[in-house]
Amino acid sequence: MSNRMWGGRFATGPAAIMEEINASIGFDRKLWAQDIAGSKAHAAMLAARGILSAEDEAAIRTGLDEIAADIEEGRFVFERSLEDIHMNIEARLGEKIGQAARRLHTARSRNDQVALDVKLWVRDTIDHLDGQFLDLMRALADKAGSHAGAVMPGFTHLQSAQPVTFGHHLLAYVEMLARDRGRFRDARARLNECPLGAAALAGTSFPIDREMTAKALGFDRPTANSMDSVADRDYALEALAAASIAAVHLSRLAEEIVIWTSAQFRFVRLSDAFTTGSSIMPQKRNPDAAELVRAKTGRIAGSLLALTMVMKGLPLTYQKDMQEDKEQIFDGLESLSLVLAATTGMVRDLEPDLAVLKRAAGSGFSTATDLADWLVRRLGIPFRDAHHVTGSIVAIAAAKGITLDRVPLAEMQAVHAGITEEVFSVLSVAKSVASRVSYGGTAPKNVRAQAKRWQSRLARE
Ligand code: ARG
Repeated sequence: MSNRMWGGRFATGPAAIMEEINASIGFDRKLWAQDIAGSKAHAAMLAARGILSAEDEAAIRTGLDEIAADIEEGRFVFERSLEDIHMNIEARLGEKIGQAARRLHTARSRNDQVALDVKLWVRDTIDHLDGQFLDLMRALADKAGSHAGAVMPGFTHLQSAQPVTFGHHLLAYVEMLARDRGRFRDARARLNECPLGAAALAGTSFPIDREMTAKALGFDRPTANSMDSVADRDYALEALAAASIAAVHLSRLAEEIVIWTSAQFRFVRLSDAFTTGSSIMPQKRNPDAAELVRAKTGRIAGSLLALTMVMKGLPLTYQKDMQEDKEQIFDGLESLSLVLAATTGMVRDLEPDLAVLKRAAGSGFSTATDLADWLVRRLGIPFRDAHHVTGSIVAIAAAKGITLDRVPLAEMQAVHAGITEEVFSVLSVAKSVASRVSYGGTAPKNVRAQAKRWQSRLARE
């Protein structure tokens, strides 16, 4: 049997194992809609330039629309012997419309075709992710607005540092996600040049109109170098890099949810909808969704690394290695989409335990910095000295097993004679957070304003 796709030059078909390693239809079938959109734009352009007759173009368009319907309704039979989505669709088109189908590939190669399809898929996915980022940011900003003044411990080294508010903590993630979203937007703007018309690598002698296809497919312009057009996958690397950074942010939030829901912390409660039980331990409420969000980061960052390794060292232009781009791109970006959706669900359902948070906020001598600041402000002593005085008072509290605001005045005065009764006005957690009014600080009135700013900004999008 000669080869089904390029019989002319071949006397026999491929070995079974060749077909197995070569075929991409198992995964690139996901590109069917992009492939059809690209072919329709290409055919319309060929007709407009007189390279294809109007009848052939119409037949191609109708045939491709039928194929799209067949695929959507599950009637299309994908064949591995036809290697990939491009050949599967073209072969089916031939069965449907005959000769005209054989003219579609004029002035085109699978190299610019696949570059286009993958680019369109990445672009479509970035647009979808953008809406998902918005949903999560809205969920966080809403929750932050409801708990702008709810005190909780702020940590460094996972040790109590200074009291903050729950709303402030959540808004930190909104800031991160806004940058993540920005990275995807930047990537989208850079990728939005159309490779179609680069043909195999050198361009074509046919009088094609690349501006026309670029415009029809929603690109800003055609790519300027035919070799770059078919060799480039840096738009995919960029999207996966943005995904990896976003995944790191989501993983940190997930880790906090895991910590916060533990019986030792009890800072928040996750809804039943985002919790699982144990088959043996009846008391368990496991934060599986958060754990999986955390774990998927490995997958997403792994896809960036895998594609980076595929691309490094490839000479220009297209190399078959690049067929390995798709699974990484699909898996990386689809995992991010799943992780965003799951995180949004968890955040919406998350209920902080305000009493527990408040108690925890005051533990660990969290207002020690407030005491030191008071010594500087009221007694005019240098901060380094105030730090030392405060350290001695903390040591007294620690030895007695009491919080800072319970240390008797006389004992504080024994450390520094200038300390007065007034010091107690800064030692409470509520006073501490209320005093942090510097721009970007955790004072509830700041947090309330920031939550409002985000809510109205996000509502306008
Ligand atoms: N299935 C191929 C891929 O995904 C399509 C491009 C094939 N081009 C070629 N010259 N063999 O990369």
